[in-house]
Amino acid sequence: MVRRERKRWEDIAVEQIGRREARTAFYRDSAPKMTLNGVWNFLYLEAPELSPEGFMNKEISKEGWDQIDVPSVWQLRGYDHMHYTDVLYLFPVNPPFVPTENPTGIYKKTIVLDENWIKNDTILKFHGVDSAFDVWVNGVHAGYSKVSRLPSEFDITELVKEGENDITVRVYKWSDGTYLEDQDMWWMSGIFRDVELINEPKNSILDCAVEGTLDDSYKNGILNVSVKTKHNVTLTWKLEKDGQIIAEGECRTEEKKANWSENVGEIRPWTAETPELYVLTVSAGEHEVQVRTGFRRIEIIDNNFRVNNTVILLNGVNHHDYNPKEGRCVTYEQTKADIVLMKQHNINAVRCSHYPANEYLYDLCDEYGLYVIDEADLECHGFEWTGNYKWITDDPEWEKSYVDRSVRMVKRDRNHPCIIMWSMGNESSFGHNFRSAAEAIRELDDTRLVHYEGDFEAEVSDVYSTMYTRLKPLKEIAEYKIKGDKPHVMCEYGHAMGNGPGGLKEHQELFRKYKRLQGGFIWEWYDHGIYTEENGYEYYRYGGNYGDFPTNGNFCIDGLLMPDRTPSPALAEYKQVIAPVEVTKVPGKYREIQLKNYYDFRNLSHLELRWWIQAEDQTVQEGRITELAAKPQEAQKIQIPYVPFEAEKNVDYYLNISICEKEKTLYASAGHEIVRAQFPMEIHSEVLEERPQGEALKVTEKEGILTVQNEKITVQFHSVFGKLLSVSADGREFLTAGPEMSVYRATIDNDMYKKEDWMNKYFIQKPCEQTEYFRYHEKEDCVTVEIGKYFGCYNQSWGFICDYEYRVYSCGQVKVTLNAKTVQNGKEEPEFLPRIGVQMKGNRELQNAMWYGRGFGENYVDSKEAAFMGIYKSGVDGMMTNYVYPQENGHREDVKWFSIGDGKNAMLCMMEAPLGLNLSNYTDESLEKAGHAWQMEKAENVIIHLDYKHSGLGSNSCGEEQIERAKVKRQDFSMAFTLQMIEAGTEKETAKKKYLD
Ligand code: GAL
Ligand code: MG
Repeated sequence: MVRRERKRWEDIAVEQIGRREARTAFYRDSAPKMTLNGVWNFLYLEAPELSPEGFMNKEISKEGWDQIDVPSVWQLRGYDHMHYTDVLYLFPVNPPFVPTENPTGIYKKTIVLDENWIKNDTILKFHGVDSAFDVWVNGVHAGYSKVSRLPSEFDITELVKEGENDITVRVYKWSDGTYLEDQDMWWMSGIFRDVELINEPKNSILDCAVEGTLDDSYKNGILNVSVKTKHNVTLTWKLEKDGQIIAEGECRTEEKKANWSENVGEIRPWTAETPELYVLTVSAGEHEVQVRTGFRRIEIIDNNFRVNNTVILLNGVNHHDYNPKEGRCVTYEQTKADIVLMKQHNINAVRCSHYPANEYLYDLCDEYGLYVIDEADLECHGFEWTGNYKWITDDPEWEKSYVDRSVRMVKRDRNHPCIIMWSMGNESSFGHNFRSAAEAIRELDDTRLVHYEGDFEAEVSDVYSTMYTRLKPLKEIAEYKIKGDKPHVMCEYGHAMGNGPGGLKEHQELFRKYKRLQGGFIWEWYDHGIYTEENGYEYYRYGGNYGDFPTNGNFCIDGLLMPDRTPSPALAEYKQVIAPVEVTKVPGKYREIQLKNYYDFRNLSHLELRWWIQAEDQTVQEGRITELAAKPQEAQKIQIPYVPFEAEKNVDYYLNISICEKEKTLYASAGHEIVRAQFPMEIHSEVLEERPQGEALKVTEKEGILTVQNEKITVQFHSVFGKLLSVSADGREFLTAGPEMSVYRATIDNDMYKKEDWMNKYFIQKPCEQTEYFRYHEKEDCVTVEIGKYFGCYNQSWGFICDYEYRVYSCGQVKVTLNAKTVQNGKEEPEFLPRIGVQMKGNRELQNAMWYGRGFGENYVDSKEAAFMGIYKSGVDGMMTNYVYPQENGHREDVKWFSIGDGKNAMLCMMEAPLGLNLSNYTDESLEKAGHAWQMEKAENVIIHLDYKHSGLGSNSCGEEQIERAKVKRQDFSMAFTLQMIEAGTEKETAKKKYLD
């Protein structure tokens, strides 16, 4: 007995019913189109079997039906529920069967077709429906299709009539296809891409495959075209560039097919740097279509992949379809904004992770110039957790489904010059069905490379692709010590979850150094948070926030762009690291710099160099150099013609260089900056003066409180607890708690694998300072308080022996020095610490911050390429990066002084040697605790962290840990800084005064 019949949406033998063969998306098509986007009638059901009788008929009563927007995902229109998992299926792994409870949406729309329309054929095209669907037209079944992120077309000519026509679509959330669509993303369903009708002429061109390649000189274009028509016709064609005809011809189809090949002479080749497009127009009389093509050739020569005979480096990003309000439903405008933003950030490649994007993404990449890895809509990651990862991947019964996903992608997208690799999918192990898919791809198109990361041995993949490979094995790959000699790409690295990634520079250095490594793609472009307004708060939800279980929580908040499209600091870092021009100082030559050209095809003549000498925050000289010429991969030396000058006392000077576009480009205005560099100048003149004297200081002691005071300043210490309690001036408290050691930071996502040990074994968030001694010496103009402390955390045998020295000067300055020696009397301790520094508290009214150090944006030791020394101003809140999932943020490195003020007065803090700074209105504890920004509790004080060292970010939420230099090891340290209460506005001049001790 058969226990269970396969339902249609569980039948892997049925790829489709009545669906047309996949074909290209024409760039222009003379066939009229009618959009079916808009409001449809909608009936939501818990299972397809519950469909009302006759639902496919026009006459069915719509009572109880709702309305829904097409396109949209129904979970964001109030049906079903939102659920996020990275790997897990939300049902037993029992392929091809899916749950009986199978959320279903019936969509209905009436359309009116006129007499003219009816004379031609009618094609109904769905650009994307998740996950499988049936279509009826005027009550008659028109077809069935699956694969969520590929189009399905049905010829409904025989089913439509003049006047009103009824279209019914029944969409199934779960289908056998779902087993192949287990990408790391929200589970969302419905008609989520455009729907349209095409009014196709009787003598139409059905498909046109255009290949623009190059002859062996790489100069002349060869155009290979094959066309399919509905009937035999005479075709005329022309190839144009900017309106000029380059080639043209005529031919007759035989068996409804025509092929031609033409050497079109010298052309301007397509590359991502030079996106030169040509337009092919093919006409069959009453039907005319256009395809844009570019001439370029992709090959593997000497173990490298090359575009037009040049080895290229991919500086890419992984791109998912995502919109904070609409889920997986995106628009042309949004996609265009993405592409423009990528180009503005020096990105030259996109991987469509992990499914084909909307058709227009490829048009945009052709036009703006981005290399694309197009990826089939295929992932069965959940099988990995069953211990039988190959289950369906190696099962020939599933072969057709695997092949279909690649073949339809290739047939749709092959005309796009931007696509350089076909990826067969993601995270689905390897086996028979991928071998077949690779073969099928090559049969259709052997002009691109085949990619699949899951082909771990690179058996059929043309490139050896890995993800999140640590630097050490990456270097071994680079040296051909691992897996043969195919060229390597990192299809994912630099996991941009929360604060991070750090260490991008080290990756880029390897990519640039080793021939085998041809770059990589950051994971990923967006944070997939879902916009929510609730109780007066606006925020972004992630997994678990809908009560969804099991979930991977905020693992979907892992992009370079925040959900509201705010670029994260990591995007600025990435831009700088991958910039096609590298600016370095020529050692020993004080005015000479070098520009290295990392473009693969362009020289630097389209760029200009702007330079200026910056005296902390003043520009003292500037100029521009417009003759840049270095050829690809070559370097050019440049003299910066500044006039020697005398340094003002106690001022730092920097030579700043900015490389900019001379002219407006498609994606940026004239003057758009490609890269910036800064070089400190060695012309510092330090002048120390005698410290001015104020009224004699008085010392009083009462109940453990030691007060040092004159008319300028009041400083209080606790002699029992051994700490600085407060610093006041003019009756107002500026510092409300003095320095105490801190080795903890609010856990960042990239610390997730450290957190357990750090917080539950080493208790770094539970510090304790014990007083060892307290003594003071009085002099008329300086009272020195010395405090000995032992610092440690709960139950730890490691700690620090701290000597604090406070000098209160009669002029009102307070100099703080901390010398600490580290001790370990046991064995156990963390491999490294988030930070070593002190925490202080400032009066909460002091909200105007200013600092001389790296900025403007937040920066960390392994992510500070795009942060330059300068004097910056901001509100305290403006220094924070508001990550969707609260965590340590807003750090600034190399700070020489900072101030916090209220517009009238300020507390200035000047470092003896640069320190790391965090200023925040939130405590570390409240950042740690909160799941969303609105849950963060405002602190009663401005929280000030001064760090001797602060660990880097790394990318360990998925990938490389902090690199060694970015790990703060337990160590002896010293730090010193001077506090001074001043009038607001005098920060810079006050900070320039240096005193003899
Ligand atoms: C990769 C996967 C991505 C994503 C990422 C983690 O393994 O291919 O889809 O899950 O990890 O964010
Ligand atoms: Mg996955």
